[in-house]
Amino acid sequence: MLIKLPKASDSKESDVTPESFYLSRRALLGSSLGGLAVGALAPWANADEAARYADVEPGKAPQWFAEKLPQTQWQAVTVQGEAITPFKDATHYNNFYEFGTGKGDPAQNAGGMKTEPWSVVVDGEVSKPGRYALEDFMKPYQLEERIYRLRCVEAWSMVIPWIGFPLSVLLKQVEPTSKAKFIRFETLQDPKVMPGQRSGFALIDWPYVEGLRLDEAMNPLAILAVGMYGRELPNQNGAPLRLVVPWKYGFKSVKSIVRISLVEDQPKTTWQGIAADEYGFYANVNPEVDHPRWTQARERRLPSGLFSPNIRETRMFNGYEDEVASLYSGLDLRKNY
Ligand code: MTE
Repeated sequence: MLIKLPKASDSKESDVTPESFYLSRRALLGSSLGGLAVGALAPWANADEAARYADVEPGKAPQWFAEKLPQTQWQAVTVQGEAITPFKDATHYNNFYEFGTGKGDPAQNAGGMKTEPWSVVVDGEVSKPGRYALEDFMKPYQLEERIYRLRCVEAWSMVIPWIGFPLSVLLKQVEPTSKAKFIRFETLQDPKVMPGQRSGFALIDWPYVEGLRLDEAMNPLAILAVGMYGRELPNQNGAPLRLVVPWKYGFKSVKSIVRISLVEDQPKTTWQGIAADEYGFYANVNPEVDHPRWTQARERRLPSGLFSPNIRETRMFNGYEDEVASLYSGLDLRKNY
C-alpha cells in the first residue's frame, strides 16, 4: 500500500538512488532467498551507496520474512542528504535494558532470545482480538523500507533504514471500538534469557511498556518494524517486532513486542514509572524543552568520536514537523513533554 506523505519526508527513490543501484539491490535482496548475503553489494553500486550497506551482516531470516522481503517497497520514505548510520553502530550501540545497561550489552547478550516461534496478543478495546503466531500476524502486511532519523533522549542519534508496515494498517484490521483512546505495547518478559530482568537493576518494573494516543498511532509515519538494513531485525534491535515512531525520543520505540492492547486510559509507561519528571508520556523530540539534566538543543550523530563528535542541531519533532505538528495543536508542549 502506498501512503501519500507530505513533502518533507516524501521523496521518490529516484531522487536519492541511481536507478541501476536500486534495481540491482532489489534483485540482490530478492535473491537472498537463494542464500546470497544481503550485505553483499552489486559491483555497480556507487561508492556512497555501497558504504551504506557495506558492513551489513546477513542474518538467519525466518521463512515468512524471506518470502515477504522481495515484495518490499524500497525507500518508501527517506531522509535527504543525511548518511545512513553504519550497520555496525546501529547494532552495537543500543539501549535494551532487558539485556543490560551498557551500550554494548544488548549485542553481547541478546543472542539467546528465541524469536521463533513468537506470538503476539492483540486485545482490549478491539472488535477482533486474538493471539497470533507471528507468521500469521504478518500475513496481511506489505513491507516497506522507511529510512528515519532516530533521536535518543540521551542526545545521540542515527539514521536507520527500517523495514516494516504502518501501524495504522494493523489498527484498521483489528477495528478499535469507540472506547479505544490509547494503544499500549508490552515487551517480552523472560528473566531466563534477559539478564536485566534478573539483575539488581530493579528500577524498572518489567515488562517494558510504552504507549501512544490513538491518533498518534494512526499517523502514517508510525510503523511496526520487522527488519532493518535489508534484513530481519537483529535481536539487540528488538526482534522480531518493534515500534518505530521517528518524531519521538527513542524510548517510545518499544522492542520485542508480545502484546498490543487498545485501552481507554493513558497507559502507565516504563519511563514515567522510573522518573515522571524527566520522561513524559509524549516524549516528542523538542529542542526547546530541555531534559532537566541536559540540553536537548543538540545531538551527537553516530558514528561520533572524540576528534569528530559529529554534533548537529536537533530539529523540532526530529525533522517531521510537517507530518505530525497538527497532532499537537493547542497542546502545551512544555507541560506535555
Ligand atoms: N524497548 C525495550 N523493551 N527495552 C528498552 O530498554 N530502550 C529504548 C527503545 N526501546 C528499550 C526499548 C530506548 S531508550 C531507545 S533509544 C531505543 O529503544 C534504542 O533502539 P536501538 O537500540 O535499536 O537503537
